[in-house]
Amino acid sequence: MKLCVIAGDGIGREVVPQALRVLQLLLPGLQTVAADAGWDTFRQHGTALSAATLAVARDCGAVIFGAVSSPAHQVAGYRSPIVQLRRELGCHANLRPTLSLPGCGAAGIDLLIVRENTEDLYIGEEQSDGDTATAIKRITRAASQRVAQTACQLAVAAGRRRLTIVHKANILPLTDGLFRDAARQVAAGYPQLAVDELLVDTAALKLAQAPQDFDVLLAPNLYGDILSDLAAACGGGLGVAASLNLGADAAIAEPVHGSAPDIAGQGIANPVASLLSLAMLLRHWWRLPELAARLEQAVRATLAAGTRTPDLGGTAGTAGFCDAVIGRL
Ligand code: NAI
Ligand code: MG
Repeated sequence: MKLCVIAGDGIGREVVPQALRVLQLLLPGLQTVAADAGWDTFRQHGTALSAATLAVARDCGAVIFGAVSSPAHQVAGYRSPIVQLRRELGCHANLRPTLSLPGCGAAGIDLLIVRENTEDLYIGEEQSDGDTATAIKRITRAASQRVAQTACQLAVAAGRRRLTIVHKANILPLTDGLFRDAARQVAAGYPQLAVDELLVDTAALKLAQAPQDFDVLLAPNLYGDILSDLAAACGGGLGVAASLNLGADAAIAEPVHGSAPDIAGQGIANPVASLLSLAMLLRHWWRLPELAARLEQAVRATLAAGTRTPDLGGTAGTAGFCDAVIGRL
Protein backbone atom coordinates (compact mmCIF):
# COMPACT_ATOMS: atom_id res chain seq x y z
CA MET A 1 0.00 0.00 0.00
CA LYS A 2 1.46 3.33 -1.08
CA LEU A 3 0.52 6.94 -0.44
CA CYS A 4 1.89 9.94 -2.32
CA VAL A 5 2.22 12.80 0.19
CA ILE A 6 2.00 16.31 -1.21
CA ALA A 7 2.03 18.69 1.77
CA GLY A 8 2.19 21.83 -0.39
CA ASP A 9 2.47 25.31 1.13
CA GLY A 10 1.55 27.04 4.39
CA ILE A 11 -0.50 24.96 6.81
CA GLY A 12 -0.43 22.04 4.37
CA ARG A 13 3.04 21.37 5.78
CA GLU A 14 1.65 21.33 9.30
CA VAL A 15 -1.61 19.40 9.03
CA VAL A 16 -0.42 16.71 6.59
CA PRO A 17 2.55 15.36 8.59
CA GLN A 18 0.49 15.35 11.77
CA ALA A 19 -2.50 13.62 10.19
CA LEU A 20 -0.11 11.06 8.69
CA ARG A 21 1.13 10.09 12.15
CA VAL A 22 -2.45 9.04 12.90
CA LEU A 23 -2.89 7.16 9.62
CA GLN A 24 0.36 5.28 10.12
CA LEU A 25 -0.91 3.99 13.42
CA LEU A 26 -3.90 2.49 11.59
CA LEU A 27 -1.88 1.27 8.60
CA PRO A 28 1.57 0.34 9.93
CA GLY A 29 2.61 -1.18 6.61
CA LEU A 30 1.83 1.97 4.62
CA GLN A 31 4.65 3.19 2.42
CA THR A 32 4.68 6.98 1.97
CA VAL A 33 6.42 8.86 -0.84
CA ALA A 34 6.83 12.61 -0.45
CA ALA A 35 6.39 14.84 -3.51
CA ASP A 36 6.41 18.61 -4.08
CA ALA A 37 3.78 20.91 -5.52
CA GLY A 38 2.62 24.47 -5.06
CA TRP A 39 3.80 28.03 -5.03
CA ASP A 40 7.21 27.43 -3.45
CA THR A 41 7.81 24.64 -5.96
CA PHE A 42 6.83 27.00 -8.77
CA ARG A 43 9.24 29.66 -7.57
CA GLN A 44 12.09 27.19 -7.31
CA HIS A 45 11.49 25.06 -10.38
CA GLY A 46 9.17 27.05 -12.67
CA THR A 47 6.34 24.53 -12.38
CA ALA A 48 3.76 24.07 -9.63
CA LEU A 49 3.31 20.39 -10.47
CA SER A 50 6.33 18.63 -11.90
CA ALA A 51 6.32 15.53 -14.10
CA ALA A 52 8.16 13.77 -11.26
CA THR A 53 5.38 14.53 -8.76
CA LEU A 54 2.77 13.43 -11.25
CA ALA A 55 4.64 10.16 -11.80
CA VAL A 56 4.78 9.45 -8.07
CA ALA A 57 1.07 10.24 -7.71
CA ARG A 58 0.20 7.92 -10.62
CA ASP A 59 2.37 5.15 -9.26
CA CYS A 60 0.85 5.36 -5.77
CA GLY A 61 -2.77 5.82 -6.84
CA ALA A 62 -3.59 7.22 -3.42
CA VAL A 63 -2.59 10.82 -2.71
CA ILE A 64 -2.95 13.23 0.19
CA PHE A 65 -2.80 16.84 -0.97
CA GLY A 66 -2.50 19.40 1.84
CA ALA A 67 -2.95 22.88 0.42
CA VAL A 68 -1.11 25.23 -1.88
CA SER A 69 -0.92 28.99 -2.24
CA SER A 70 -2.09 30.35 -5.57
CA PRO A 71 -1.66 33.92 -6.78
CA ALA A 72 -4.94 35.80 -7.37
CA HIS A 73 -3.49 37.46 -10.48
CA GLN A 74 -2.16 35.87 -13.64
CA VAL A 75 1.43 34.64 -13.32
CA ALA A 76 3.06 33.44 -16.53
CA GLY A 77 3.45 29.67 -16.51
CA TYR A 78 1.56 29.10 -13.26
CA ARG A 79 -1.36 26.68 -13.28
CA SER A 80 -3.21 25.47 -10.20
CA PRO A 81 -1.56 22.14 -9.34
CA ILE A 82 -4.64 20.63 -7.69
CA VAL A 83 -6.87 21.34 -10.68
CA GLN A 84 -4.20 19.80 -12.92
CA LEU A 85 -3.64 16.83 -10.61
CA ARG A 86 -7.36 16.01 -10.47
CA ARG A 87 -7.53 16.06 -14.25
CA GLU A 88 -4.27 14.17 -14.89
CA LEU A 89 -5.25 11.41 -12.46
CA GLY A 90 -8.77 11.21 -13.87
CA CYS A 91 -10.45 11.97 -10.55
CA HIS A 92 -13.81 12.78 -12.06
CA ALA A 93 -15.80 13.17 -8.86
CA ASN A 94 -15.12 15.37 -5.86
CA LEU A 95 -16.91 14.15 -2.74
CA ARG A 96 -17.48 16.82 -0.12
CA PRO A 97 -19.45 15.66 2.89
CA THR A 98 -20.73 17.85 5.70
CA LEU A 99 -21.51 15.95 8.87
CA SER A 100 -22.29 17.60 12.18
CA LEU A 101 -19.37 17.07 14.56
CA PRO A 102 -19.51 17.50 18.34
CA GLY A 103 -19.54 21.22 19.13
CA CYS A 104 -19.00 22.32 15.53
CA GLY A 105 -21.62 24.28 13.62
CA ALA A 106 -25.25 23.21 13.42
CA ALA A 107 -26.54 19.83 14.61
CA GLY A 108 -28.22 17.16 12.49
CA ILE A 109 -26.40 17.76 9.20
CA ASP A 110 -25.40 14.76 7.13
CA LEU A 111 -25.10 15.78 3.51
CA LEU A 112 -22.79 14.93 0.64
CA ILE A 113 -21.96 17.24 -2.22
CA VAL A 114 -20.73 15.43 -5.31
CA ARG A 115 -18.97 17.91 -7.54
CA GLU A 116 -18.04 17.25 -11.16
CA ASN A 117 -14.27 17.64 -11.17
CA THR A 118 -12.96 17.84 -14.73
CA GLU A 119 -14.77 20.47 -16.78
CA ASP A 120 -17.15 23.44 -16.59
CA LEU A 121 -15.38 26.82 -16.26
CA TYR A 122 -12.39 25.07 -14.65
CA ILE A 123 -10.96 24.04 -18.01
CA GLY A 124 -9.33 27.48 -17.82
CA GLU A 125 -10.00 28.54 -21.40
CA GLU A 126 -10.04 32.31 -20.99
CA GLN A 127 -9.44 35.07 -23.49
CA SER A 128 -9.15 38.82 -23.15
CA ASP A 129 -8.41 41.77 -25.40
CA GLY A 130 -8.09 43.98 -22.35
CA ASP A 131 -11.68 45.27 -22.42
CA THR A 132 -13.66 42.13 -23.05
CA ALA A 133 -12.84 38.85 -21.35
CA THR A 134 -14.46 35.52 -22.10
CA ALA A 135 -14.28 32.13 -20.39
CA ILE A 136 -15.50 28.86 -21.85
CA LYS A 137 -17.88 26.76 -19.80
CA ARG A 138 -17.67 23.23 -21.20
CA ILE A 139 -20.14 20.53 -20.17
CA THR A 140 -20.09 17.11 -21.79
CA ARG A 141 -22.66 14.36 -21.61
CA ALA A 142 -19.94 11.82 -20.83
CA ALA A 143 -18.51 13.65 -17.82
CA SER A 144 -21.97 14.53 -16.53
CA GLN A 145 -23.11 10.91 -16.75
CA ARG A 146 -19.94 9.62 -15.17
CA VAL A 147 -20.17 11.86 -12.11
CA ALA A 148 -23.89 11.14 -11.82
CA GLN A 149 -23.13 7.40 -11.80
CA THR A 150 -20.64 7.87 -9.02
CA ALA A 151 -23.06 10.03 -7.02
CA CYS A 152 -25.88 7.49 -7.38
CA GLN A 153 -23.69 4.50 -6.55
CA LEU A 154 -22.25 6.17 -3.45
CA ALA A 155 -25.68 7.35 -2.36
CA VAL A 156 -27.19 3.88 -2.61
CA ALA A 157 -24.17 2.21 -0.97
CA ALA A 158 -24.44 4.61 1.97
CA GLY A 159 -28.19 4.04 2.33
CA ARG A 160 -29.00 7.59 1.32
CA ARG A 161 -32.44 8.40 -0.05
CA ARG A 162 -32.44 11.63 -2.04
CA LEU A 163 -30.42 13.13 -4.86
CA THR A 164 -30.73 16.84 -5.62
CA ILE A 165 -29.35 17.99 -8.98
CA VAL A 166 -28.07 21.57 -8.85
CA HIS A 167 -27.94 23.73 -11.98
CA LYS A 168 -28.90 27.05 -13.56
CA ALA A 169 -30.62 25.72 -16.65
CA ASN A 170 -33.07 28.61 -16.71
CA ILE A 171 -30.17 30.88 -17.78
CA LEU A 172 -27.88 28.26 -19.32
CA PRO A 173 -30.24 25.75 -20.95
CA LEU A 174 -27.60 24.21 -23.22
CA THR A 175 -24.74 23.67 -20.76
CA ASP A 176 -26.51 23.28 -17.43
CA GLY A 177 -29.49 21.77 -19.22
CA LEU A 178 -27.22 19.03 -20.56
CA PHE A 179 -25.80 18.39 -17.10
CA ARG A 180 -29.28 18.18 -15.58
CA ASP A 181 -30.69 15.93 -18.28
CA ALA A 182 -27.69 13.58 -18.25
CA ALA A 183 -27.87 13.34 -14.46
CA ARG A 184 -31.63 12.69 -14.54
CA GLN A 185 -31.15 9.94 -17.09
CA VAL A 186 -28.56 8.17 -14.95
CA ALA A 187 -30.54 8.66 -11.73
CA ALA A 188 -33.61 7.05 -13.35
CA GLY A 189 -31.69 3.78 -13.07
CA TYR A 190 -31.71 4.06 -9.26
CA PRO A 191 -35.33 3.74 -8.16
CA GLN A 192 -34.16 3.68 -4.51
CA LEU A 193 -33.33 7.39 -4.82
CA ALA A 194 -35.83 10.21 -4.85
CA VAL A 195 -34.51 12.69 -7.41
CA ASP A 196 -35.20 16.41 -7.46
CA GLU A 197 -33.47 19.51 -8.72
CA LEU A 198 -32.73 23.04 -7.54
CA LEU A 199 -31.41 26.19 -9.19
CA VAL A 200 -28.02 26.94 -7.71
CA ASP A 201 -29.05 30.23 -6.11
CA THR A 202 -32.04 28.59 -4.45
CA ALA A 203 -29.79 25.77 -3.34
CA ALA A 204 -27.50 28.30 -1.64
CA LEU A 205 -30.46 29.89 0.17
CA LYS A 206 -31.84 26.56 1.33
CA LEU A 207 -28.45 25.26 2.38
CA ALA A 208 -27.92 28.34 4.53
CA GLN A 209 -31.44 28.06 5.98
CA ALA A 210 -31.75 24.33 6.57
CA PRO A 211 -28.67 22.22 5.73
CA GLN A 212 -30.30 19.35 7.67
CA ASP A 213 -32.87 18.99 4.87
CA PHE A 214 -30.32 17.85 2.29
CA ASP A 215 -28.99 14.41 1.49
CA VAL A 216 -26.88 14.15 -1.70
CA LEU A 217 -26.35 17.17 -3.94
CA LEU A 218 -24.91 16.69 -7.43
CA ALA A 219 -23.44 19.78 -9.07
CA PRO A 220 -21.26 20.92 -11.94
CA ASN A 221 -17.74 22.00 -10.97
CA LEU A 222 -18.14 25.69 -10.11
CA TYR A 223 -21.46 25.43 -8.25
CA GLY A 224 -20.12 22.43 -6.34
CA ASP A 225 -17.03 24.38 -5.32
CA ILE A 226 -19.02 27.31 -3.97
CA LEU A 227 -21.84 25.35 -2.36
CA SER A 228 -19.40 23.06 -0.59
CA ASP A 229 -17.73 26.02 1.13
CA LEU A 230 -21.18 27.19 2.21
CA ALA A 231 -21.97 23.71 3.51
CA ALA A 232 -18.58 23.69 5.27
CA ALA A 233 -19.53 26.88 7.08
CA CYS A 234 -22.70 25.17 8.35
CA GLY A 235 -20.62 22.24 9.57
CA GLY A 236 -17.98 24.02 11.65
CA GLY A 237 -15.83 25.76 9.06
CA LEU A 238 -12.91 25.04 6.79
CA GLY A 239 -10.87 23.50 9.57
CA VAL A 240 -13.10 20.41 9.54
CA ALA A 241 -14.19 20.26 5.87
CA ALA A 242 -12.89 17.09 4.18
CA SER A 243 -12.98 15.94 0.59
CA LEU A 244 -11.97 13.10 -1.67
CA ASN A 245 -11.28 13.34 -5.38
CA LEU A 246 -12.21 9.95 -6.76
CA GLY A 247 -11.53 8.27 -10.10
CA ALA A 248 -11.07 4.77 -11.48
CA ASP A 249 -7.27 4.83 -11.20
CA ALA A 250 -6.56 7.24 -8.36
CA ALA A 251 -7.97 9.09 -5.38
CA ILE A 252 -6.77 12.33 -3.80
CA ALA A 253 -7.64 13.09 -0.18
CA GLU A 254 -7.83 16.86 0.08
CA PRO A 255 -8.80 19.09 2.98
CA VAL A 256 -11.04 21.78 1.46
CA HIS A 257 -9.10 24.66 3.02
CA GLY A 258 -6.20 26.57 1.49
CA SER A 259 -2.73 27.35 2.80
CA ALA A 260 -4.04 29.83 5.42
CA PRO A 261 -1.11 32.28 5.40
CA ASP A 262 -2.70 34.14 8.33
CA ILE A 263 -2.02 31.25 10.72
CA ALA A 264 0.77 29.33 8.96
CA GLY A 265 3.87 28.56 10.99
CA GLN A 266 2.12 28.77 14.36
CA GLY A 267 1.30 25.08 14.78
CA ILE A 268 -2.39 25.83 15.43
CA ALA A 269 -4.03 24.75 12.17
CA ASN A 270 -6.90 22.32 12.59
CA PRO A 271 -5.91 18.84 11.33
CA VAL A 272 -9.51 17.51 11.38
CA ALA A 273 -10.12 18.27 7.69
CA SER A 274 -7.02 16.25 6.77
CA LEU A 275 -7.85 13.41 9.17
CA LEU A 276 -11.39 13.09 7.82
CA SER A 277 -10.11 13.26 4.23
CA LEU A 278 -7.78 10.35 5.03
CA ALA A 279 -10.77 8.48 6.47
CA MET A 280 -12.49 8.94 3.10
CA LEU A 281 -9.42 7.51 1.39
CA LEU A 282 -9.59 4.51 3.72
CA ARG A 283 -13.27 3.97 2.99
CA HIS A 284 -13.58 4.69 -0.72
CA TRP A 285 -10.15 3.93 -2.15
CA TRP A 286 -8.54 1.30 0.04
CA ARG A 287 -11.98 -0.13 0.87
CA LEU A 288 -11.26 -0.37 4.57
CA PRO A 289 -14.52 0.94 6.04
CA GLU A 290 -13.81 -0.40 9.53
CA LEU A 291 -10.57 1.55 9.77
CA ALA A 292 -12.28 4.63 8.33
CA ALA A 293 -15.00 4.40 10.98
CA ARG A 294 -12.42 3.96 13.75
CA LEU A 295 -10.59 7.08 12.64
CA GLU A 296 -13.80 9.12 12.35
CA GLN A 297 -14.93 7.90 15.75
CA ALA A 298 -11.62 8.87 17.36
CA VAL A 299 -11.84 12.36 15.84
CA ARG A 300 -15.42 12.79 17.07
CA ALA A 301 -14.54 11.56 20.54
CA THR A 302 -11.56 13.92 20.73
CA LEU A 303 -13.74 16.89 19.75
CA ALA A 304 -16.48 15.77 22.13
CA ALA A 305 -13.96 15.69 24.97
CA GLY A 306 -13.28 19.39 24.33
CA THR A 307 -9.89 19.07 22.62
CA ARG A 308 -10.07 21.69 19.87
CA THR A 309 -7.86 23.99 17.87
CA PRO A 310 -8.39 27.79 18.12
CA ASP A 311 -10.63 28.00 15.01
CA LEU A 312 -13.15 25.96 17.03
CA GLY A 313 -12.61 28.01 20.18
CA GLY A 314 -10.06 25.70 21.81
CA THR A 315 -6.41 25.91 22.73
CA ALA A 316 -4.98 22.69 21.28
CA GLY A 317 -2.27 22.80 18.64
CA THR A 318 -2.11 20.70 15.49
CA ALA A 319 0.23 18.14 17.07
CA GLY A 320 -1.63 18.12 20.39
CA PHE A 321 -4.92 17.35 18.70
CA CYS A 322 -3.36 14.47 16.78
CA ASP A 323 -1.74 13.19 19.98
CA ALA A 324 -5.20 13.08 21.53
CA VAL A 325 -6.61 11.17 18.54
CA ILE A 326 -3.73 8.71 18.71
CA GLY A 327 -4.41 8.28 22.41
CA ARG A 328 -7.98 7.26 21.61
CA LEU A 329 -6.92 4.82 18.92
P1 NAI B 1 -7.85 29.50 3.36
O1 NAI B 1 -8.70 28.29 3.35
O2 NAI B 1 -6.38 29.29 3.27
O3 NAI B 1 -8.15 30.33 4.69
C1 NAI B 1 -9.41 30.94 4.93
C2 NAI B 1 -9.57 31.19 6.44
O4 NAI B 1 -9.81 29.95 7.11
C3 NAI B 1 -8.33 31.77 7.09
O5 NAI B 1 -8.70 32.68 8.08
C4 NAI B 1 -7.65 30.56 7.70
O6 NAI B 1 -6.87 30.87 8.81
C5 NAI B 1 -8.82 29.67 8.06
N1 NAI B 1 -8.46 28.26 7.98
C6 NAI B 1 -8.34 27.52 6.84
N2 NAI B 1 -7.97 26.28 7.12
C7 NAI B 1 -7.83 26.21 8.46
C8 NAI B 1 -7.46 25.16 9.37
N3 NAI B 1 -7.14 23.92 8.94
N4 NAI B 1 -7.42 25.45 10.68
C9 NAI B 1 -7.74 26.66 11.13
N5 NAI B 1 -8.11 27.68 10.33
C10 NAI B 1 -8.14 27.46 9.01
O7 NAI B 1 -8.34 30.42 2.16
P2 NAI B 1 -7.72 31.80 1.62
O8 NAI B 1 -7.20 32.61 2.75
O9 NAI B 1 -8.76 32.38 0.76
O10 NAI B 1 -6.51 31.40 0.70
C11 NAI B 1 -5.15 31.32 1.12
C12 NAI B 1 -4.33 30.67 0.03
O11 NAI B 1 -4.74 29.32 -0.14
C13 NAI B 1 -4.47 31.35 -1.33
O12 NAI B 1 -3.20 31.40 -1.94
C14 NAI B 1 -5.41 30.43 -2.09
O13 NAI B 1 -5.19 30.49 -3.48
C15 NAI B 1 -5.04 29.09 -1.52
N6 NAI B 1 -6.12 28.08 -1.59
C16 NAI B 1 -5.72 26.80 -1.89
C17 NAI B 1 -6.62 25.77 -1.90
C18 NAI B 1 -6.11 24.41 -2.16
O14 NAI B 1 -4.92 24.17 -2.11
N7 NAI B 1 -6.96 23.41 -2.41
C19 NAI B 1 -8.05 25.99 -1.63
C20 NAI B 1 -8.36 27.36 -1.25
C21 NAI B 1 -7.41 28.36 -1.25
MG1 MG C 1 -12.91 25.81 -3.02
